[in-house]
Amino acid sequence: MKSDLPEVEALLRSCTLPVGGIGEHALQFHVSRDKSGLLGCAGIEEYGGTVGLLRGLAVAERARCAGLGELLMSALVADVRQRGLESLVLRTETAAGYFSRFGFTKIPRSEVPHRLLVSREFAETIAARATVMAIAL
Ligand SMILES: CC(C)(COP(=O)(O)OP(=O)(O)OC[C@H]1O[C@@H](n2cnc3c(N)ncnc32)[C@H](O)[C@@H]1OP(=O)(O)O)[C@@H](O)C(=O)NCCC(=O)NCCS
Repeated sequence: MKSDLPEVEALLRSCTLPVGGIGEHALQFHVSRDKSGLLGCAGIEEYGGTVGLLRGLAVAERARCAGLGELLMSALVADVRQRGLESLVLRTETAAGYFSRFGFTKIPRSEVPHRLLVSREFAETIAARATVMAIAL
């Protein structure tokens, strides 16, 4: 929901994850919270009805290693499958090992779906050293 965005941005910044374009694109965020605030988030941007871009998987430090990241990823992948998307793409600098647990594999930039490659959000938030990963749905 739009009202979650300030907290989502704050959590992403605290994890040094990019916030560019968040809230501007057709983006859905799954969030988890407790009384003290946001515990975790995972977002999806949709491109051309076929490709999803995972944006901002983050879990607050106080809630880590308790399965919340896995829960958010499961909810997000189920959501994306229900929308009928064909693949889900992400880029990461630090968590390739984490995403491989869910079946994501590294892909070269030449295999990034064209719709995604030309998008402003992807271009602006991909660091040259980021690993791009994808999963077929
Ligand atoms: C990555 C992240 C979302 C994982 O959330 P989480 O709720 O702690 O993860 P889970 O409880 O589902 O899984 C914990 C397991 O993942 C492993 N793990 C956590 N972060 C990892 C990483 N960056 N690389 C590889 N493995 C990682 C833990 O060591 C733990 O392993 P174990 O099951 O063998 O003990 C969280 O550490 C985070 O927000 N990190 C900062 C932001 C980030 O890197 N986001 C992803 C980049 S796009």
